[in-house]
Amino acid sequence: MLKIDGLVLTVVDPDTGLETEILHGSSFELAQGEALGLVGESGSGKSMTLKCILGIEPGGARVEGRIELDGADLLATGGEALRRIRAEDLALIAQNPHGALNPVLPVERFLVEGMSDARKTGRSEARERAAELLRQVGIDDTERVLRSYPHQLSGGMLQRVVIAGAISGEPKLLLADEPTTALDVTTQAEVVAILDEKRREHGLSMIFVTHDLDLAAAVCDRLAVMQDGEILEIGTPEEIRDRPRTDYTRRLMAVRPMLYPEGHPAAFLEAGAEPGRGADHTSGTSGASGASGTSGASGASWTSGVSGISGEEAGA
Ligand SMILES: Nc1ncnc2c1ncn2[C@@H]1O[C@H](COP(=O)(O)OP(=O)(O)OP(=O)(O)O)[C@@H](O)[C@H]1O
Ligand SMILES: [Mg+2]
Repeated sequence: MLKIDGLVLTVVDPDTGLETEILHGSSFELAQGEALGLVGESGSGKSMTLKCILGIEPGGARVEGRIELDGADLLATGGEALRRIRAEDLALIAQNPHGALNPVLPVERFLVEGMSDARKTGRSEARERAAELLRQVGIDDTERVLRSYPHQLSGGMLQRVVIAGAISGEPKLLLADEPTTALDVTTQAEVVAILDEKRREHGLSMIFVTHDLDLAAAVCDRLAVMQDGEILEIGTPEEIRDRPRTDYTRRLMAVRPMLYPEGHPAAFLEAGAEPGRGADHTSGTSGASGASGTSGASGASWTSGVSGISGEEAGA
């Protein structure tokens, strides 16, 4: 559904006119319903890759190559047509959920405005649908949350609202840029589980950007390892773990946080596949109870796919 070929991003310093190439010709593809993890250290070009897809690269920058979404060449499409593709088919979930919501409008307005047929929908029906969206991301006290302004909600709650809004627009592709990095560990796990569950339910494709190899492995079908504006290798989490092709990937695995399996979100996610593990640090939620067993194939710390956690179970 998404095909990126030879993506080159060059930024221009507005003062000196000096050009710097940031992305050096990345290529990758994403199948319908697939989740690709973009991993790599800070500055490797993960966010810039997403920005090129969204068309929000820095001012004056040059984007070359090909970005094709369901057959449409985004770099060759301009004006209204491009604006519509980006508004309807893409949804960004960024690190800081506050950036996605207008601070002077209540949550209800954010959700209602995101509904594709908002203008045709009556107020009470729209409100009921907004409440239903919140229930789908594990929020039970919908009345309070709908009335709240962004600053009145926690980061985790707000990120759920952003996810609800993203899903309701029925985009083709979710672009998640470190969607949980700003949240505490327990909340991270819950929010990632909800994102993962909703994405699968709706069959959406996703690019999931993170520093965190374990988290990416738990959520994604394939991982792309980035360094210095280049994609070094792409493979399933198992391939990357068992047969890393570059020293960089090996180093990335060596330095990954060893919080795992105690407090790491990936451990919580895996609790779905391995009942009894990782459920004790979730402050009153039960990640393990709905176990339905994913692959469980590796026996090691990475599984692909998250299961056994529903929005209700993860509810605040
Ligand atoms: N507005 C900008 N203008 C010019 N260069 C930029 C700009 N923003 C980022 N860069 C450079 O682009 C490169 C890639 O940055 P990018 O933000 O994509 O990294 P990242 O992999 O997302 O890192 P992080 O994990 O820290 O978010 C970096 O070298 C960065 O310095
Ligand atoms: Mg980034």
